[in-house]
Amino acid sequence: MANEPKHPTDQGQQPESVPGQDSDILTTSQGAPVSDTDHSLKTGERGPTLLQDHHLREKIMHFDHERIPERVVHARGAGAHGFFTSYGNAEELTRADFLKPGRTTRVFVRFSTVVGSRGSMDTARDTRGFATKFYTDEGIFDLVGNNMPVFFIQDGIKFPDLVHAAKPHPDREIPQAQSAHDTFWDFVSLHTPAQAHVMWQMSDRAIPRSYRMMEGFGVHTFRMVNALGRSSLVKFHWKPKLGVHSLVWEESQLAGGADADFHRRDLAEAIDAGALPEWELGVQIFEDDGTSSFEGIDLLDPTKFVPEELAPVQPLGKMVLDRNPENYFAQTEQVAFHPGHLVPGIDITDDPLLQARLFSYLDTQLTRLGGPNFAQIPVNQPQAPVNDMFRDGLHQHRVPEGIAPYKPNSLDGGCPYMAQLGSGQLPPLEFPQPIDAGRKERSEPASFSDHYSQARLFYLSLSGVERAHVQQSYTFELGKCTDVQVRQRQVDCLANIDTGLAAGVARALGLPAPAAQELGEPERSPALSQIGKSWPVDG
Ligand code: HEM
Repeated sequence: MANEPKHPTDQGQQPESVPGQDSDILTTSQGAPVSDTDHSLKTGERGPTLLQDHHLREKIMHFDHERIPERVVHARGAGAHGFFTSYGNAEELTRADFLKPGRTTRVFVRFSTVVGSRGSMDTARDTRGFATKFYTDEGIFDLVGNNMPVFFIQDGIKFPDLVHAAKPHPDREIPQAQSAHDTFWDFVSLHTPAQAHVMWQMSDRAIPRSYRMMEGFGVHTFRMVNALGRSSLVKFHWKPKLGVHSLVWEESQLAGGADADFHRRDLAEAIDAGALPEWELGVQIFEDDGTSSFEGIDLLDPTKFVPEELAPVQPLGKMVLDRNPENYFAQTEQVAFHPGHLVPGIDITDDPLLQARLFSYLDTQLTRLGGPNFAQIPVNQPQAPVNDMFRDGLHQHRVPEGIAPYKPNSLDGGCPYMAQLGSGQLPPLEFPQPIDAGRKERSEPASFSDHYSQARLFYLSLSGVERAHVQQSYTFELGKCTDVQVRQRQVDCLANIDTGLAAGVARALGLPAPAAQELGEPERSPALSQIGKSWPVDG
């Protein structure tokens, strides 16, 4: 078989092995032999073509429907198969089976840009998606992350606004691959929680040298629960074995111009050549003491990261990508990630952005993958036994026998899994988190109002060369913005991050240098206040 498994978990059924295409002779989709697929059926040599040519009609009908909608964001991507080996040191932290000693788990990873369409260029300045599907013995776990640890918005209700502002202009679909237009800068300078993520986007992190040289971040704070039911808060990190490397802007333009598939090709060729990409998965761990706060940082605010100096990343295992997809459409295009695909021992938190994501992914996939049965697509199939009591629907491939499932039920033997759960042998999937009932309201906590300190923290951590790149990118990208008021407003925002940076960008754009507003510093722990100050500044 061409898709010979290479790693230790590849035993038995392959999720991507699909029956079909196995006849030696050409057939219709119904298996009838076809003797001529080069000429349509016509009246005489010159036609016209006959409507009764059912082979022609079937062939064209199928071709007409080969495309499905591209993802509304992250449309352009590249995928690979691999495996994850646990270091077996997470017992105190989580009861997740795939993190136990000696476990090796198959994975499928998809890297992506966010804004551009399926055909856009790989090296555009953008955030990169880093989504991993773990086929664990307890079901699918999806870690749907990015290559930057913070996000633009704090509440999912702002996601459509963000994406409308960042996507190409609706009249001409220009610019195609970058967020370099009036609407983007208008939004992020008005919606200032975006300033920290924009700082990462204007840094070299937004033009990676290779997918193999990117970090990955879960962004949100998640929860891990151990066998005793003890909960800890965690942030996920992927650390590339090759280190973090970026292109410089001119390289990204030249590489992308010469080869729009620069990153896709790099990943595929590295795997083909046996230079297998590797990442270590780790977590920052925080006590779940009910405050959701660490050193003054609100852990439920996805625009904030926690410096590793304060909470070192604890490695939990290693991922190796060892096999290119056998078919781009079947696997990379049809893979369906979802932050709600969780396994026992890993749970969500009340981060309002994560909460909205828990709705968005299944909802969009219902349209993108044509109905509710996309978990049956080979790349999406769990490698654990499934009994979901679901029936029918578009593209149903299962053939269930017996009566339709319902509970309670005295006629069909019941469901053993539920019986076990009821008798207490399996702990509940969700952590029984205490909830402060409060009252219904549309509001945000006061701790979400600090929009600049983290942008500053990141900026001050950069070397002189990196800071110069940041200044150049703000100047170049804001220079594409035609509205002078919007430019000025963004430069004013920069003054709240770093006055030197704001002055440099203002000068280059011919704008007056703004003064920092009197924002006052958020209350911060002494440890956090030292971060950045102690880092070398060579610029
Ligand atoms: C893809 C929504 C925030 C990472 C998507 C897709 C949607 C979406 C609709 C397309 C999925 C598909 O068609 O299969 C949202 C919403 C968000 C949000 C509503 C905020 C409320 C985030 C954040 C991250 C992220 C914070 C990173 C931590 C990704 C990735 C993909 C993706 C990596 C691509 C998955 C793939 O490769 O198939 N998102 N997203 N998203 N999102 Fe989000």
